[in-house]
Amino acid sequence: MQMNRRNFLIGGAASAVALGSTSLAQSAMRPLPLIPMTDLTGGIESRIALALAPSIHDFGNGAASETFGINNSYLGPVLRVKQGQTLPFDVTNSIGDVSTLHWHGLHIPGDVDGGPHQEIEHGQTWSPDVPIVQRASMNWFHSHTHGKTSQQTYKGLAGVMLIEDDASLSADLPKTYGVDDFTLILQDKAFDAAGKMTYALTGEVFQDGFMGDTLCVNGTIAPVAQNVPVGLVRFRILNACNARFLTLSMATGPVTVIASDGGFLPSAVQADSIFMSPGERYEILVDMKAVETNSLMVSFGEDEGDGEGLFGFFGGLLGGGGESAMTALTMTRTADKGFDAAMPNRLANLAPPRPEEAVVTRSFSLNMETGGDLVALAANWGNFCGDGAMAINGQPMNMDRIDEKVRKGDTEIWRINVDEQRHPFHIHGCSFRILSQEGGTPPAYAQGWKDMVHVQDGWSDVLVRFDHDAPAEAPYMYHCHILEHEDCGMMGQFTVG
Ligand code: C2O
Ligand code: CU
Ligand code: CU
Repeated sequence: MQMNRRNFLIGGAASAVALGSTSLAQSAMRPLPLIPMTDLTGGIESRIALALAPSIHDFGNGAASETFGINNSYLGPVLRVKQGQTLPFDVTNSIGDVSTLHWHGLHIPGDVDGGPHQEIEHGQTWSPDVPIVQRASMNWFHSHTHGKTSQQTYKGLAGVMLIEDDASLSADLPKTYGVDDFTLILQDKAFDAAGKMTYALTGEVFQDGFMGDTLCVNGTIAPVAQNVPVGLVRFRILNACNARFLTLSMATGPVTVIASDGGFLPSAVQADSIFMSPGERYEILVDMKAVETNSLMVSFGEDEGDGEGLFGFFGGLLGGGGESAMTALTMTRTADKGFDAAMPNRLANLAPPRPEEAVVTRSFSLNMETGGDLVALAANWGNFCGDGAMAINGQPMNMDRIDEKVRKGDTEIWRINVDEQRHPFHIHGCSFRILSQEGGTPPAYAQGWKDMVHVQDGWSDVLVRFDHDAPAEAPYMYHCHILEHEDCGMMGQFTVG
């Protein structure tokens, strides 16, 4: 079922109208907005148009917020594609400023990666042909404009790409979009007294990253509600916050995780809660045969900023029962028959990582303080280029400097060190395995394919290999995924060849 471009746009407009009308009934729980999905798994007939544009969006409170959207009034479409395809994109920028669109999680060459070197001027179209060679996984795309990533992504330049492969398409898993297979984009937002989305920078915002006090799901203020059939229900979840770590749990029962950033886990993992950094993705299953209603709970984990990691780790073990857990989404079972299968035990072949294969070890220190003036940077917003007050290995990001040169096909260990705060670290062009996270074994749900790892008080190690080229004119990035830190210079560039 391929949605053509005309329906696509109508779909976007229709969902905006639906949001407006539900906001009149403030007391009723808002329905979960279904992000318009473009299913290309059956074949690609024409170029795929993505239009980055300013828009007006109602987050469900009746106010007209100024946003950016990609074919929609806020955020982009869900693109469902298949391994082996080459995606012919036409990305048109009309936001009134330079932009870029990076494919986060994709194993693709540097020249189509959409990083800061592939700028799209206002009024221009970027037309990369993006080859999909990797396994089934949930990926995303967002602005990666040097010095402006945080602001542009916050305003709405982000969307989801679901890669399927033969195994995932024939797997015994729910896969009917909008019925038993849902994509959830979780974000924290700030709204002013009139209900309009706001974003403002100060030196402090640069320190912590921008945090809103309101949880949104797919561009609508939580909690949201969704009816589901009797059976298994699948949620593909993205933490698209600029800076917030989220703790997810279920109102009833454990969280059953089946996939992480880069693909399926070897088997389903049950956890009391999962801790998600900005940029991370997890897929979970909820058994709606056993219960009539269940809710996905999200906690901002505000008490964890003390550097003790109490909330993030032990708070996670306590599950969603903590006072700060909010209802993100309530599912209510209907009488309809749904996907009637047991929770799967085997999902994928995935051998343990083999660190003994590493031929190179690299070390990266994330630096919060380089002596740069954060307050001045914040005041100069929109007019600075990340040449800033944060750094990696003492060097703030510089577009003209290549920091690391990697040999294609080599297995490497990357050690990420930090001495202040917790940071989510991301590497372009690959999926890696986490060897250690914050000094310990990562939780079972984070032991599969990843492109995000977090670190505080010490280091995290990942085992990584790059199989695609990234030349000096189109290098890959590694960076902190607190977007304000990235914009402030906590980013570096590397080539692969
Ligand atoms: Cu999600 Cu370099 O970014
Ligand atoms: Cu990326
Ligand atoms: Cu950071």
